[in-house]
Amino acid sequence: MSETENVTAAVEPYVINSYGVSNELLSEGAALVRESGLRHVAFIMDGNGRWATARGLPRESGHKEGMVSFEQVAEYCADIGIRYVTVYAFSTENWKRPKHEVNAILMILRRYLKRAMKLIDQKRVHFVVIGDISPFDEKTQQLIRDLDEKSACYDRVLNIALNYGGRAELVHAMNEAVREKAEQGVSSAESMLLGMGELLTEDDIERHLYTYPCPPPDMIVRTAGDKRLSNFLLWQSSYSELIFSPVLWPDYRQGDVNDNIRDFLSRQRRYGGVESTVGVK
Ligand code: IPE
Ligand code: IPE
Ligand code: MG
Repeated sequence: MSETENVTAAVEPYVINSYGVSNELLSEGAALVRESGLRHVAFIMDGNGRWATARGLPRESGHKEGMVSFEQVAEYCADIGIRYVTVYAFSTENWKRPKHEVNAILMILRRYLKRAMKLIDQKRVHFVVIGDISPFDEKTQQLIRDLDEKSACYDRVLNIALNYGGRAELVHAMNEAVREKAEQGVSSAESMLLGMGELLTEDDIERHLYTYPCPPPDMIVRTAGDKRLSNFLLWQSSYSELIFSPVLWPDYRQGDVNDNIRDFLSRQRRYGGVESTVGVK
C-alpha cells in the first residue's frame, strides 16, 4: 500500500450541528458520503464579486460573505465525514486585481487564520495552507506555520490554497524532486549518461506537491457557473469529477454540498478502463 493510500482510511463522521443545519440534512450528507466513498472534495469558491455587484455592493462585501460560506461548508464537509477538503481562496493570478480588493481579500483571510488558531480544538481539523506564502509578512507566515503545526494532530485536513497556482506548484515540486536526487548524488546528466532512465518518476513529483500526502480530489466543485479550473490542482485533477454549480459562492450552503454529492454519485469513474474494469487495479 502506498503512503498516500495509507492515510486515507475511512473516518466516522462527527455529527455536531453548530450552524443551524437540520439533523436530516446532516444525516443525509453523511449517508451520501458513505455511499459515494468520497474522501477528498475541492472547491473553487467563485462568484463573490458577482454576488456583491448584483446587490449594488462593493466586491469586498462579496468576499466577506464568501468567508461565511467557506467556514460553514468546510465544517459541514468535515461533519459529514469527508476527510480532506481543499478550498481555492487566492490564486497566483489574483494579484492582478485592484490593490484595494487584494488587500481586502488578504485581510479577510488573515483574520480567518487568526480565528482558526484559537479554534483548533473546537474545529478538530488540520489546517494546511498550500501555496507560496513567501510574499506575506513574517507574522502571517509564522501564523500559517504555527496553525499547521498545532493542528497536525487531527486526521481531517483542510487545505487552504493561498497564493496558489497549479503551475507554480508543479515547478516547485519538480525543483524539490531534482534537489532531492542531487542530494542522493544522482544528477540529471549522470542519469542520462549512465542510461539509468528518467531522472524523475510520477511518484517523485507527487511527493513534493503541496497537497501531499492527501489523495487527489474525487470531486472538484466550481461555483458561479464558469467551467474552467483557473490553474487549480492541475496535477491532482487528472481524474477528478468536475462539478459546475450555478450558485454564487456567498449563496452556497450545506444543501448545495449534498446536491453536488448526488451529482457525483451519478458519475461512473472509469479511469481509462471500461465498465467491467471499474475498481479493478
Ligand atoms: C472568488 O470570487 C474569490 C476570489 C477569486 C478571491 P470572485 O471575486 O472571483 O468573484 P467573481 O468571479 O468576480 O464573481
Ligand atoms: C479562481 O477564480 C480563483 C479563486 C477562486 C481563488 P477567479 O475568479 O480568479 O478565476 P477566473 O479569473 O475567472 O479564471
Ligand atoms: Mg471569479
